Order: sequence, then C-alpha cells, then structure tokens
Amino acid sequence: MSEIVPSLLSADFSILAEEAAKMKEAGAERLHLDVMDGHFVPNLSFGNPVVKSLRSRSDLHFEVHLMVQNPGDRIDEFLKAGADTLIFHIEADGDASELIKRIKAGGIEAGVSIKPETPLSSILELIPEIDLLLVMTVDPGFGGQAMIKSALKKVVDVKKMNETGNLLVEVDGGINLETIQEAAEAGTDLIVSGSTIFHSSNPPEMFKTLTRKANLNSEER
Ligand code: DX5
Ligand code: ZN
Repeated sequence: MSEIVPSLLSADFSILAEEAAKMKEAGAERLHLDVMDGHFVPNLSFGNPVVKSLRSRSDLHFEVHLMVQNPGDRIDEFLKAGADTLIFHIEADGDASELIKRIKAGGIEAGVSIKPETPLSSILELIPEIDLLLVMTVDPGFGGQAMIKSALKKVVDVKKMNETGNLLVEVDGGINLETIQEAAEAGTDLIVSGSTIFHSSNPPEMFKTLTRKANLNSEER
C-alpha cells in the first residue's frame, strides 16, 4: 500500500486549517509541512508558529520537512509546535546521529531526507536509527517541478535491504497523474503531493484519485 501525503506548500496559506480539514475528510492521515529557510534552499515558506497554529486545528499526523541549513537550531521549537515526525536533510549541517537522538528524545519520529544527487550510501548507517527516509525526487525548494525519475532507484534499493525493519520510505516532488504509478511501483510507502492536489479544481477528489492510482494492482495498471 502507498499512502498519499498532501503537502500544504501548494495550498492556500490564508485558509490552511480548512485545507487540512478537507484533506482529512478525503481520507488523508498525514500532512507534509515544508519549512524553508532561504539559505539551505533559496525559498522561504513558513516556520514553527504556523505549525503550532495548525496543530490546534488538526489531529492529522504532521510530518515537518526541514529544508534548513542548521536543523539542530530548530528541533526544540518544532517539538513544542507539535510535529509528529521531524525530517532533516543529510546535506545540512550537524551530526546526524545526534540530531536523530534529540528528535526521538522529544517523543516523536525521526526522518532523514536526501536530495536527488545524494547517494543512498550517505545514510545507510543511519537506517537502524530512523523511522522514515525521505527520498527527494526534485531538488528541494519549490513545488511544481518535474520529477527526477532516476531517484526512484534509491527507493527500490533501500526496500531490497533486510535491515530496514519498520522504516517508512517516502518520495517527495513531481508527483502527478502520470508519475504516481512509477513512484508506487518502486515500493514507496508514502508519496508526497503538493501542486497536483492543491492546484487542481477539486483537491479532495484529486487526493482520492492519486490514492486509487497508487494502489492499483498490476493487472489494473
Ligand atoms: C519541495 C517540497 C515538496 C513540495 C512538492 O521542495 O519538499 O514537499 O511541496 O511539491 P510538488 O508535489 O508540487 O512537486
Ligand atoms: Zn517536502
């Protein structure tokens, strides 16, 4: 089964709580929240006050994707804001094992993300320590980019490994009605979608369509 995780980056920021509620009603269990610092990536998005406000209006699982240069400076504020999973980039500054320990000590799940050009070998030794691996299928920073399909090979490879235990593997970037099946066939557990859902004329219906397409069996494809 592949689960679709709506990314609010492409939602209407003036009505985020309503956008989140619509996704829950459509069947979503998780929300993807993209935090950008204008430094690790050129763009700015939102920070912990937005996550905190949204927390009081939604009981969905919040996965916070930190696209920031110094994730260690941000962990405490997102623990307090109510994140359920905190994901940082292996390419950012800091000691990854220590960051993972701090996130878990806060009682939530820890995830690591890798850019399309970063090899799987850079995070292999962290696999026993993390709950989630986020494989970027676009260069982080913006919604609405085309998928870099070669990155899906990392999902296939990590899924083949025995020592992954309960690791959730997620892809992020460039999911649309065409690319969703390839992402699902790679064995992805969680599939993030931003612009395809929120720029459609009916976001809840699009969430349901993507969910259906990701979970067709091989004869139906
Ligand atoms: C991009 C973000 C994504 C973004 C995906 O840096 O990490 O989560 O919302 O957007 P789409 O689905 O439009 O590629
Ligand atoms: Zn993201």
